[in-house]
Amino acid sequence: MKKVLVTGAAGFIGFHLSKILLKHGYNVVGIDNINDYYDINLKYGRLSKLGIDRVDAERFNEVAKSSNSNFKFLRLNLEDRENLPKLFTNHNFDIVCNLAAQAGVRYSIENPEAYIDSNVVGFLNLLECCRHNKIEHLVYASSSSVYGQNEKIPFDTQDNVDHPISLYAATKKSNELMAYTYSHLYDFKTTGLRFFTVYGPWGRPDMAMYLFTDAILNDRPIKVFNNGNLERDFTYIDDIVEGVFKIIDKGNSEDSKKYSLYNIGNSKPVKLMDFITEIEKQTGIEAKKEMLPMQAGDVSRTWANVDLLKKDYNYTPKTSVSVGVEHFIIWFKSYYNQQ
Ligand SMILES: NC(=O)c1ccc[n+]([C@@H]2O[C@H](COP(=O)([O-])OP(=O)(O)OC[C@H]3O[C@@H](n4cnc5c(N)ncnc54)[C@H](O)[C@@H]3O)[C@@H](O)[C@H]2O)c1
Repeated sequence: MKKVLVTGAAGFIGFHLSKILLKHGYNVVGIDNINDYYDINLKYGRLSKLGIDRVDAERFNEVAKSSNSNFKFLRLNLEDRENLPKLFTNHNFDIVCNLAAQAGVRYSIENPEAYIDSNVVGFLNLLECCRHNKIEHLVYASSSSVYGQNEKIPFDTQDNVDHPISLYAATKKSNELMAYTYSHLYDFKTTGLRFFTVYGPWGRPDMAMYLFTDAILNDRPIKVFNNGNLERDFTYIDDIVEGVFKIIDKGNSEDSKKYSLYNIGNSKPVKLMDFITEIEKQTGIEAKKEMLPMQAGDVSRTWANVDLLKKDYNYTPKTSVSVGVEHFIIWFKSYYNQQ
């Protein structure tokens, strides 16, 4: 079976992707620097679900073995120009999936350096390793934020995205450009995925689903930006990782293009206020709402055109927001022992 490197394996999407790859019999090596951008207990909790002990995962540059013999974990920085190449020489990876990044639009206003370090320097290091180790396919995370304030909807990968309104978006667009160059120069396949607002169990504490649920269940007001006048193409985690899995699993077919780029979203935008109503319904609690202006760097609407991904990989998102929100709240309550 093929060997896949998943970067950001202790992160939200990387954890779920590792699980689905292992379920299908792949050999998976996960790396992550376990930074403290958000609660590290959540990251160690995800790793423990992958059979990794926290004490083993804490040590940098030492392989942690899992109770699942097809999985290994290594705490490693993408910026580490000494140990990242060693990892590639020690394991003959067939495929690399880069999900490690400094995520979040709002934090890029406060800490721009973290974005250049992880998303630009780190991504370059990874491209260099792919180039020198004959990797057959690099799949990497981009973001819907590259569309900035585009007005034409739904967003299409053919649309112009030369006007990012956050540094986060600028680094993601840079990744797409860098991947194009490496595909062209060194003849390996790259596939960029523009993710649209991913939510679900083990999700990120800096994102709306988590922030709202946490505040509502703990009797705190929720912050509603742009007075609630926002729309997001909320996409359930299982639909996302099934899509990514299909790309990894089939992506090396002979006729496939060297450089590809896809939107991966639900393609059904939801008004923020309707999303909040859904959480209120499922928790049985009415949210205290603090209405606030638009935040710098944020976009007002996202909507993915996923026709290309449907055509090339039979991508079929199927989870409605009400089902997805229900699953998240069940997980959240059990994780925090709340009823
Ligand atoms: N979740 C979403 O809605 C969403 C939307 C658009 C794009 N994305 C992108 O998808 C990818 C995964 O996102 P996520 O939601 O799982 O985020 P996440 O923050 O949960 O996961 C990213 C992981 O990468 C690790 N990491 C960060 N910098 C690193 C570095 N320099 N070296 C090694 N590890 C590092 C972090 O510790 C974290 O565990 C990211 O690239 C993100 O930008 C996510």
